[in-house]
Amino acid sequence: MSSHSSNLSKLQLRPLLLRSRFGAEIHGLDWTLPLSLCDARTLRQAWARHGVLVFPGADIDDWSQARFARRFGHLCVFRPAGEDGGLPPQVYRSVNVDDAGRSIVPDSLTARLLMLNWLWHVDACYRRLPTRGVVLRAVEAAGDGGDTIFVDMAAAYAELPAATRSQVDALVARHSFAYMVRQRGLPALSADEAAALPAVDHPLVRRHADGRRSLFLSPPYMECILGMSHEASQGLIAELTAWSTQERFCYCHRWRPNDMVIWDNRWTMHRVTPYDISRERRVMHGCVIVGGGVPA
Ligand code: SIN
Repeated sequence: MSSHSSNLSKLQLRPLLLRSRFGAEIHGLDWTLPLSLCDARTLRQAWARHGVLVFPGADIDDWSQARFARRFGHLCVFRPAGEDGGLPPQVYRSVNVDDAGRSIVPDSLTARLLMLNWLWHVDACYRRLPTRGVVLRAVEAAGDGGDTIFVDMAAAYAELPAATRSQVDALVARHSFAYMVRQRGLPALSADEAAALPAVDHPLVRRHADGRRSLFLSPPYMECILGMSHEASQGLIAELTAWSTQERFCYCHRWRPNDMVIWDNRWTMHRVTPYDISRERRVMHGCVIVGGGVPA
């Protein structure tokens, strides 16, 4: 991490990487106070610029996390209020322990679903309006593995050879949850689930309001590139994934308890590094910011 720091109101922002503006660590927030309008604006600007913001040692509870996340956009509601032992309706748990605190069985369906996060992906890419961002907090962090690697997909696009950029600019990919399920040998979707999750087409290159472009890859869910054979589609997806995940486009976050991270899902891709799911405890609480506008 660079020792360079700059003051943004009373907040301090430190770049996480020496070589690019991707990712920043934020210090100087008083978690006992509600986020001021000024700091919220500053953080939204930092989020837009850096894509991933890390808040080390955010010693807050689930309700404060939900209030904080709300300042970045509208949140997904996962259940009616009061239905999960006091957990706010906007907070989900991503955990490898059951309700009694016991480790989950490694080849159970729960474990296999959790391990999908070990593959490069963009959250909810298989929806028409994918998730805009996630605010994730480590309640318990794995001692070995369980890091999250984020990729700057705007830099990965910008640095593509010019001929590849013009090849991919006009391409459209089909993303499908049902395809991922078939490929991974997971239990087939029910008719209702399949109807709720039809395949969707997204451009391979996203265009952002500030003029930047970024690659939109989420390999396990990408059934094909329209107009290309299955083999050619999967070949190009694999080639672009290998390009994008070069170390120079990545930031790897090693979680410690109480770390909180917010990522912009629109121009990043990520995966969790493998860990021993039956021995290491990894308990993460998250809020999902839905696609769409940001409140003032
Ligand atoms: C995810 O892959 O969406 C979750 C990331 C994490 O658990 O670190």
